[in-house]
Amino acid sequence: MLIGVPKEILPGENRVALIPSFISTLTQAGQEVMVESGAGAGCFYADKAYEEAGASIAPNAEALYSSADIVFKIRPPESAEVEMLREGTTLICLMDAFFRLDLLEQLASQKISGFGLEFVPRISRAQSMDVLSSMAAIAGYRAVIEAAELLPKYFPMLMTSAGTIAPAKVFVIGAGVAGLMAIATAKRLGAVVEAYDTRPVVKEQVESVGAKFVEFDLETAGEDAGGYAKAQSDDFYKKQQEQMKAKVATVDVVITTAAIPGKKSPVLITDDMLQSMQAGSVIIDLAAERGGNTEGAEAGVVVEKHGIKIVGYTDYPSRSAVHASQLFAKNITTFLLNMVKDGEYAIDLEDEIVKGALLVHDGQVVHEMIKPLMEQQGE
Ligand SMILES: NC(=O)c1ccc[n+]([C@@H]2O[C@H](COP(=O)([O-])OP(=O)(O)OC[C@H]3O[C@@H](n4cnc5c(N)ncnc54)[C@H](O)[C@@H]3O)[C@@H](O)[C@H]2O)c1
Repeated sequence: MLIGVPKEILPGENRVALIPSFISTLTQAGQEVMVESGAGAGCFYADKAYEEAGASIAPNAEALYSSADIVFKIRPPESAEVEMLREGTTLICLMDAFFRLDLLEQLASQKISGFGLEFVPRISRAQSMDVLSSMAAIAGYRAVIEAAELLPKYFPMLMTSAGTIAPAKVFVIGAGVAGLMAIATAKRLGAVVEAYDTRPVVKEQVESVGAKFVEFDLETAGEDAGGYAKAQSDDFYKKQQEQMKAKVATVDVVITTAAIPGKKSPVLITDDMLQSMQAGSVIIDLAAERGGNTEGAEAGVVVEKHGIKIVGYTDYPSRSAVHASQLFAKNITTFLLNMVKDGEYAIDLEDEIVKGALLVHDGQVVHEMIKPLMEQQGE
């Protein structure tokens, strides 16, 4: 099979889905690789580096898309990119499926098999394919770097001849992958870190990376079978806001990471809470792409309200494009090789990982979580 790696076209996207060091893994498994010219430029891989590793170079997107049997991509493709694909091609990328039913319909009508890497189940066998975790860890790290940059204070405690500087106080809401990495990073920079999560099971993990776990008097709906948080009731969020108000008023930095798969992000920090915070404080809202956990957060930009900077950047992995691409390449390569036996690529619907991530196949949307949404849309 010919694996095609196009250049990402979203403005500001520096990552690439495959880096040269993984090409030999694919060729040794009986596959060929073609890379669009310039695809690796955002993370400093020249065409020559891909060629030397054994890939061929396609001069442009048309040449790449029209000849690939399998496409490795990061972002969901634009409609015009899908149009260039041949019937029977496999597309593997982050599909943003809940919010891109139009794209799934197009893939189905063109008889493309589409895998959404965001649906790879969080099971041990699939750990090395877990793109969401790889990217969220980078987001957690960069969230703290951004906060340290914008906060008009030191992070560490310092004792100087001019006086003692108190350490910055950081509060992390949501201790999943991004949250835990944010805690560890803030701790390393010398901040005093506290964290809260609706899943009490993460208390030990929070403590193991150096933060204090904050307990609120709240009954939570816990987690689903996949280990993701369930959506809570409106009443729950109201109580959470009331109890968190006192906490956010005392800290310098808040990092919010609370996401519910397929849903708009819950608002955890209201305008009223912002007014209780100290001017100059910083909120890094990692959930800004889906509306944000902070009232007033805007995707992609920094907003200032009541003297508080609310950062809604959605491209943290792309800001660490070299390592993000390295991790993504490992994840997507492992994902593909799980479907290659004796050099032959085949979609085995009995495999839990394959079935979990397959969104479109044989001209139909096949994913159990997406099918009802398509039906609702058709009504
Ligand atoms: N901005 C970016 O560039 C960027 C990049 C990658 C990921 N992200 C985002 O980072 C976020 C976190 O990703 P992740 O992989 O760590 O997710 P995750 O599912 O591992 O973690 C989210 C955590 O939030 C918790 N949570 C949910 N609702 C909560 C609430 N009301 N109060 C407290 N905790 C709550 C969950 O229990 C879970 O532990 C997501 O929103 C993701 O989209 C952003």
